[in-house]
Amino acid sequence: MKIGVSGKGGVGKTTISATLARIFAARHYDVLAIDSDPNPNLALALGFPPDVANAMKPMPRRAFAKDAEQTFTVDEILSSYGVRGPQNISLVLGAKIEKAASG
Ligand SMILES: Nc1ncnc2c1ncn2[C@@H]1O[C@H](COP(=O)(O)OP(=O)(O)O)[C@@H](O)[C@H]1O
Ligand SMILES: [Mg+2]
Repeated sequence: MKIGVSGKGGVGKTTISATLARIFAARHYDVLAIDSDPNPNLALALGFPPDVANAMKPMPRRAFAKDAEQTFTVDEILSSYGVRGPQNISLVLGAKIEKAASG
């Protein structure tokens, strides 16, 4: 089962995503959460320690490529970019702004 949550900013996407992840994990599903917000905060909503959340690196853009030679398996992405948190929920970041520049 795959669930995507999208919508405009501030409508509760992160909150509902974390709640769904936790509900399914509590029901013994193996949950992989993917935060594709470039300013990610799902880790904190899932209860990951702040130092773990801050140290997370986003998976590389080529992980999304359709070219099979450039794609990674889910296990490869998880072992290189995933972290496991409360309730055994795995999390990967799709993007992250490393340093904001002036506009
Ligand atoms: N059902 C709700 N009722 C009231 N406040 C909520 C609800 N869901 C989320 N919030 C609050 O609204 C704000 C934005 O929620 P968030 O999940 O971060 O939105 P998004 O990820 O869509 O930007 C947060 O301060 C959050 O605590
Ligand atoms: Mg959000």
